[in-house]
Amino acid sequence: MKHDRIHFGADYNPEQWPREVWPEDIRLMREAGVTAVTLGIFSWASVEPEPGRHDFSWLDEVMDLLGEAGIAVSLATGTASPPTWFSRLHPETLPVNRDGVRLSPGSRQHYCPSSPVYREAAAGLAALFAKRYGTHPALALWHVGNEYGCHVRECYCEVSTEDFRAWLRARYGDLDTLNDAWSTTFWSQRVSDWADVLPPRTAPTFRNPAQELDFRRFSSDALLACYRAEREVLRELTPGVPITTNLMGMWEAVADYPSWAPELDVVALDLYPEPKDPAAHVDAAFFHDQMRSLGGGRPHLMMETATSAISYRPPNRPKRAGLNRLWSHQAVARGADGVMYFQWRASAGGAEKFHSAVVSHGGSDNRIFRETAALGAELAGLRDVAGTRVPAEVALVFDYANWWSLELDARPAELRIPERVRAHYLPLWRENVTVDVVTPEADLSGYRLVVVPNLYLCTDEAAANLRRHVEGGGHLLMSFFSGIADACDRIRLGGYPGAFRDLLGLRVEEFWPLSGGETARLDTGRQADLWADHIVPEGAEVLARYVDGPLAGEPAVTRHAFGAGTATYLGTRPDERAMRELVRDTLRRAGVRPVAFGLPEGVEAVRRGDRLFLLNHNDHPVLAAGTELAPLGVAVLKEGR
Ligand code: GLA
Ligand code: GLA
Repeated sequence: MKHDRIHFGADYNPEQWPREVWPEDIRLMREAGVTAVTLGIFSWASVEPEPGRHDFSWLDEVMDLLGEAGIAVSLATGTASPPTWFSRLHPETLPVNRDGVRLSPGSRQHYCPSSPVYREAAAGLAALFAKRYGTHPALALWHVGNEYGCHVRECYCEVSTEDFRAWLRARYGDLDTLNDAWSTTFWSQRVSDWADVLPPRTAPTFRNPAQELDFRRFSSDALLACYRAEREVLRELTPGVPITTNLMGMWEAVADYPSWAPELDVVALDLYPEPKDPAAHVDAAFFHDQMRSLGGGRPHLMMETATSAISYRPPNRPKRAGLNRLWSHQAVARGADGVMYFQWRASAGGAEKFHSAVVSHGGSDNRIFRETAALGAELAGLRDVAGTRVPAEVALVFDYANWWSLELDARPAELRIPERVRAHYLPLWRENVTVDVVTPEADLSGYRLVVVPNLYLCTDEAAANLRRHVEGGGHLLMSFFSGIADACDRIRLGGYPGAFRDLLGLRVEEFWPLSGGETARLDTGRQADLWADHIVPEGAEVLARYVDGPLAGEPAVTRHAFGAGTATYLGTRPDERAMRELVRDTLRRAGVRPVAFGLPEGVEAVRRGDRLFLLNHNDHPVLAAGTELAPLGVAVLKEGR
């Protein structure tokens, strides 16, 4: 899709409606300022009603209608939900869960990611789409599959097991190396034949953590291979047409998105912030930052969001007036060149009929349609924002292998990456400091400050990278339980945190998790909970000590001058105020300036290109940077005005 405007539109599923509705759809799309739709996501059974019998006539008609109306089409390959006949003819393509249960068709995404039969059929369907519509004037983008891994992110069947073995052979070469990587001397798990290598199925107690971790990596790659199989066909038949699939902005470690991103011509995000959650907009900001960063700073698309209620989280509260406008502007502010909704017309039947849409069950004479149409007109006015960049001087390190490993059994305390990342992101958001979300191995040279929430699992490359950043004059803020294990979840021996001892100028002797609401006071007057490292400084200066708790008198927060930079370390989880003060102090030290100063709480400021976006997340009016903002109000100011 061309980055010549802020695209506006929706998933369009005309196969759910009689032909007579389509011209009305087009008329309303024009009224709402729709510039693009995503078409045909679940169309497999409609274009191939019986094995080998194809009917594209309805889609031909819809493509022409859209083309005539000047609406760009992100055309799906229809492969996210195989038809019933496919599952009947190829029952081995149905996925098997960890307990050995084969899942039935009847919802969607019922395929084994490793199935050659599924992959071949999907690529074949993609080829038919490419041949038929590759030169259609409405075609702007290919949308492959849909939300890979949303429901089925791994399969434990025999085909997947063989595929997992092949993946492990490529990674480790031989069984000795695999045994070493998986620490199989523990609990007599040594494997002497590839036939004994299994996925981590339900077992009597804790499974081998390295095996689990590799299975997550493998499963992400297996899904990616499905995407690639289709992409290769599309690229060959329609070079020049960009290709993507929609990633998900949510707190579930579905797939290793950084390894997916280079395969997407544009990063597309599905985002469903919960209208009932008072902090939903902060998470949304994070996911936009993540997606923009995945694309290397290039604009992303918000491929799906809801105009109002979301159907899968009852009670389904609508978005109050103005909220969709506010959150849609937030997307644009943080780098999106498109705002699209699931879906265009609310379904009359099926599992998601209570999900909001642009056109509701009652039609278009209502608040949602009027608000959406007004927004369409407004976004059309931001045409020159498209393609522009969002600058950031701070990077937040986010790693899926680390996330996966922290979700495994028998860790010293339950560290939840969503909570840990939020705790570090929130104070930056509140300071109106824009953040890129990067892998620990990313090029950090453009950042003044790198924030590292709890990087338990850390590759050698990552350790060297973070060290280099500080040595060269960068600043670092790192939280406890970082640098403990290597990429195979083996402890880095010789004293915690093995990867970062010299960088942080300390050693951690023991972990003292604080449990069940237990807190420890700090000598700064603040409080901490969840965790306490027993820190022994080896050059680091102590910024705060525990006043009470299991480690009374010991250091809780430290800072170490290393090379030309500094590394600040939190051995505990400080309360929100303490975290904010520390982040502020570290920002000041690193010379990072907020996008705007002195804004009221709850006002988000983001700079994109030559615009300053001011977003008021409060239910009351505010005065921000000399501008009056209504409750949930938005202002887009031209810089240097
Ligand atoms: C039991 C088992 C040990 C070990 C310990 C600690 O006692 O016999 O092998 O697992 O628990 O968990
Ligand atoms: C996801 C899917 C859509 C729809 C929406 C709303 O984003 O891609 O097909 O199911 O969720 O639930």
